[in-house]
Amino acid sequence: APAPAPAAAKLGFNAVPKGLADVVAVPAGYTASVLYRLGDPIATGVTAYANDGTDAAASYDRRAGDHHDGMTYFGMDASGKWLPTAADRGLLVMNHEAITPSFLHPTGQTSTGSGNAQVRTVAEEVMREFYLHGVSVIEISKSAAKWSYKQASGFNRRVHTLTPMTLSGPAAKSNAMKTKYSTDGSTTRGTVNNCANGTTPWGTYLTCEENWAGYFRRITASDNANRSPRELISLARYGVAGTGRELWATVTPDTADNVYGRWNAEVLGAAAVDDYRNGPNTYGWVVEIDPFDALSTPKKRTALGRFGHEGACLGPVVVGKPLVWYMGDDSRNEYVYKFVSTKNWDAADIGGGMAAGDKYMDDGKLYVAKFNADGTGQWLAIALGANGITTTATPYAFADAADVLVNTRLAADIAGATKMDRPEWTAVNPKTGEVYVTLTNTNAASRPIGATDAANPRFYNDPKGSAATAQRGNPNGHIVRFADDNANPASLTFKWDVYLFGARSTASSDINLSQLSADNDFSSPDGLWFSEATPGLLWLETDDGAYTDVTNCMLLAALPGKVGDGARKTITNVDGATSRAQETIVGAAPGAAGLRRFLVGPKECEITGIAESGDGRALFVNIQHPGEDTRPTYTDPASFGSHWPDGGSARPRSATVVITRNDGGLIGL
Ligand code: FEO
Ligand code: CA
Ligand code: CA
Ligand code: CA
Repeated sequence: APAPAPAAAKLGFNAVPKGLADVVAVPAGYTASVLYRLGDPIATGVTAYANDGTDAAASYDRRAGDHHDGMTYFGMDASGKWLPTAADRGLLVMNHEAITPSFLHPTGQTSTGSGNAQVRTVAEEVMREFYLHGVSVIEISKSAAKWSYKQASGFNRRVHTLTPMTLSGPAAKSNAMKTKYSTDGSTTRGTVNNCANGTTPWGTYLTCEENWAGYFRRITASDNANRSPRELISLARYGVAGTGRELWATVTPDTADNVYGRWNAEVLGAAAVDDYRNGPNTYGWVVEIDPFDALSTPKKRTALGRFGHEGACLGPVVVGKPLVWYMGDDSRNEYVYKFVSTKNWDAADIGGGMAAGDKYMDDGKLYVAKFNADGTGQWLAIALGANGITTTATPYAFADAADVLVNTRLAADIAGATKMDRPEWTAVNPKTGEVYVTLTNTNAASRPIGATDAANPRFYNDPKGSAATAQRGNPNGHIVRFADDNANPASLTFKWDVYLFGARSTASSDINLSQLSADNDFSSPDGLWFSEATPGLLWLETDDGAYTDVTNCMLLAALPGKVGDGARKTITNVDGATSRAQETIVGAAPGAAGLRRFLVGPKECEITGIAESGDGRALFVNIQHPGEDTRPTYTDPASFGSHWPDGGSARPRSATVVITRNDGGLIGL
């Protein structure tokens, strides 16, 4: 007899209340345990992390990085091969997006001078910071109901800002990629600001480069005279200007292979291969890493475009059909993209490693989304000759197909895509193939009341706002979802609506459009991921700016409906004395059955990155940058904004927690 159909998923826990305590709070009947903290050693012979800034920089390529972010669990069988359903052993692969410098060195970052003349003076500190960015691969397992990572595993690996990488796909070896490090433009060093993530059906990890532009030094006054007009347009569009956020380029003397000077993007020599003027062009990509081969060289997949990549969510995988990845560009007024492979999926490529990546990710079509007011949408091709993207286009004339990919944002502007309120994570519902994208928030400067549209419809004043903090615009964010027409991920048209609007439950009905209650109200949605063990169960993580007066950041569980389950609605936006009607499409209110708060994190953290064991009975969640708001004085640990997870007077640490149900059941149900 056929097996009975599984019962419909139903949320089965009591909502966690909002809170401001310096703890990880989970529902009654659940336990959250710390698994992997900033600085934890991942090789034999590396000492426990002192957490006082004294650990030798040279050990940090074998320690956990900082600011844990997007994360994937790769289940593993006894022979060390990928087995997605493996319940108690796997590789946990995670991004380390950025750093909180205050907590990394004896007394914060050491520098002298000010303005453009400010320079870092302790090379050891900068080397620590290089290693603390990037990606971790760690082997984890469960024994006697307790999860731990294996310090001595041969799978353990750190990828960081010094790791050699291959540039792959159509933009590789183009003129824009040539640097002193790689005079033929075939390689680059490192990855940085790795935010959200993605997977492939052949068992590799995708890490996405988000706010990379800010790490480069480029003082425009000393650079402009040497740049072509086209280069200046490109640099301005991507925001490559300034001293570089951590001043990495300022360390002297530089090394023979320019590990510091390569962060200076100014024109220094006569030819591109004399300097690192093109260094920023080698960042802003989706990077593929094979976690099962610790010696493999990561590849930057240029066919997926260059922008502030948040994540790359794999769409439905069907034998004989193209593969598709959905991607957000997280900056105000940026776009949502998808990449469709030319080759159709062949399950024989499972386990094919980087060669499978060459097949499916180096050859395909890139599209950007246009959301129409009537609930329809189009995918506009980002390709030379399409949608006004030509060798004579204004403001930017593209040299060739590679130049279109290097300057994806300029091509999307010309194509006429819809500017969104900061596209963060993308997630695909395995039950429907529908795609969800978090639009974390925006402000009045980026989207004034006169510039709202149906897909980015709200303008309001959040009560945390004051004249000084100016939380006007859409500070609470929303989540748009769409269904490619005919359930075909390669379709060039789609239908969309707004699944959820972030809001305080106390806000007016024109703001709290999803009718959120005290048990599920949230702000600034960011991480978003559908469970594989429990199809239809959605996890939503927050990176709140506007709501942190009331609660620390949180994780919510949801059981969403479908595109079109709600209704068209006209709302009234208000900005001081100005009011303006805006039509939108509001998904069905989730109610307590459809959305519930599952976790509240410690002080000043962001909740981001999520994965589950192969049986869905362990949930891995990243607690990013607890205590990030304060700049402590090192004589007074009491001034630290958080002491999580170690407690007492300890410096706070980003960390992965593993959450299990005390009765061993499925998480969330
Ligand atoms: Fe790194 Fe868009 O969050
Ligand atoms: Ca994020
Ligand atoms: Ca965010
Ligand atoms: Ca963050």
